[in-house]
Amino acid sequence: MCGIIGYVGKGAAVELLVEGLEVLEYRGYDSAGVALDVGGELEVHRAVGPVAELSRLVGDQTEASGGLGHTRWATHGGVSVDNAHPLTACDGRLAVVLNGIVENFTELRDALLAAGHRFSSETDAEVVSHLIEQTYEGDLAAAVAEVSPLLRGHFAFAACHEEESGRLVATRRSCPLVLGRSGDGTYLASMSAAFATRVAELMHLEDDEVAEVDADGIRVRGQGGGLVDRRPLPPTSAEVSDRAGHSSFMAKEIAEQPAAIRATLRGRLDSHGLPSEPDLAEALWETDQIVLVACGTAYHAALYGGYLLEDWAQIPCRVEIASEWRYRAKRLPPRTSVILVSQSGETADTLQAQAHAVDLGAKTLAVCNVADSQLVRQADATILTRAGFEVGVAATKTFTAQVVSLAALALQLAAHRRTVDPETLAMHGRELRRLPLLVERFLESDHPAFEIADRVFEQPFFLYLGRGFGLPIALEGALKLKEISYIPTDAYAAGEMKHGPIALLSQDTPVICVAPDSPTHEKLVSNVLEVKARGASVVAVASTGNEDMGDHADEVIYVPRTTPELGPLLCVPALQLLALRIAERRGRNVDRPRNLAKTVTVE
Ligand code: G6P
Repeated sequence: MCGIIGYVGKGAAVELLVEGLEVLEYRGYDSAGVALDVGGELEVHRAVGPVAELSRLVGDQTEASGGLGHTRWATHGGVSVDNAHPLTACDGRLAVVLNGIVENFTELRDALLAAGHRFSSETDAEVVSHLIEQTYEGDLAAAVAEVSPLLRGHFAFAACHEEESGRLVATRRSCPLVLGRSGDGTYLASMSAAFATRVAELMHLEDDEVAEVDADGIRVRGQGGGLVDRRPLPPTSAEVSDRAGHSSFMAKEIAEQPAAIRATLRGRLDSHGLPSEPDLAEALWETDQIVLVACGTAYHAALYGGYLLEDWAQIPCRVEIASEWRYRAKRLPPRTSVILVSQSGETADTLQAQAHAVDLGAKTLAVCNVADSQLVRQADATILTRAGFEVGVAATKTFTAQVVSLAALALQLAAHRRTVDPETLAMHGRELRRLPLLVERFLESDHPAFEIADRVFEQPFFLYLGRGFGLPIALEGALKLKEISYIPTDAYAAGEMKHGPIALLSQDTPVICVAPDSPTHEKLVSNVLEVKARGASVVAVASTGNEDMGDHADEVIYVPRTTPELGPLLCVPALQLLALRIAERRGRNVDRPRNLAKTVTVE
């Protein structure tokens, strides 16, 4: 969601803030702003649109010695300059940037209005700047410490005040905030990638702590006001991301999948294909039941992973949407583990589900792409996906990496529980190790995904079908297309189509079938015939050499052959490329689809 950056020091403040905002921009890109400390005077610039707009507006301001920056994803109040952060209060002498939600803002706002405060935005966050103004008596950190307990919700915010030039103050509850130090100054941000290449050390702020930041360093106080002595961490390696010649980050990240899978599997399977990292599954050895919980694309990866865990390790699994499960689950049977799957490790609903799992007495395991994320820091065990920084809002390489991580976990558990004989286990492991090569082979092949996209991109509706392991992939394919092209899509278990979605079919409706080799292949062929009988047109993604799909479908995208368990995963790049090209043909910004955010830190 929104991104926060702050800097004080001897460096080129505007440049550092804008560069940080560019890294954070994928979190929200409705509008952006900075509050600059220019010789003790506050200068606020805000612009609707991308950070580049803001950068143009600020121009070459070189006098600033520090300040705060923000990139917004609108929750309360539309996209406008007035609603953009930083937000000031009545006297314009302080500024606040906030990520998250202040749930009790209505009552706080009413009280502030009654006390004579005038609001200039529709945001929930503006109550924070006015509350600080009301409380301020010459000590910003004290004011923030007093205001924060009045707020309900989950948020991170930072403030600065003209009276205290050269100082920033920040606090957080549930939303992340990280602090960093370099030789020439001090930073704060929503995520370390915003400054990681510049700092020598960093430190995570914990819930309800207050950090004071100036050019000389960082002071953190706990809830009682006592100084917190926290050992700084080395910076995490942040990759500098550019499109590397691709038309979009999404295109680049699709192409990076072989590398992402290779990195994710590194050290996890030996050369015979046998699991070689027993620690990976140790946390689950005493487990009788697994609940996998996630949101969005990660939920589809969890579905696939759940199928693999049941199939190979024979552990009963339930796969749940985080925002539903956390309110519904009242108790868990003993020896239940909860696996939370999340690219960012910051998704509010997934984090709340993790807290709920802990309350219910379960062990939690995180499958995550960000090593220092809150999800990882709070989990009993972690499997890192190692897909590299993903910029495109629509997840691609992190999805395949999540499925592959869960597959490695399932093999490890199967080995431990002896549910698969060693030869079969090694065969599955070898196929998993071959996956990067097979994805590479597909991406480099003469596949017709783009030609097909060019023929169907004007169609108003697409239906995706799959069976077994193909179902989560059909769901993911449909999500990819709808989120980046804005075309309505539906995805269904192929056998269930005749119970409803078949009514949506008309002449030429494109029906995308995830149809690699599988034990239910013949049944899927029957479903394809049912579709054809209604005049709709079938695009099948099938295993190379599978002639009967070629006989029935209108178009076939062939993918390399592997096992029935991994075949559907190999269909993913084809579906991603189809969605990418259709969205491009419709003129969409595939990296920044409207209304979406990469990291959803509100519930
Ligand atoms: C957003 C993103 C999706 C992502 C989902 C869950 O909706 O646009 O790409 O799958 O959040 O995010 P997570 O970071 O928890 O995987």
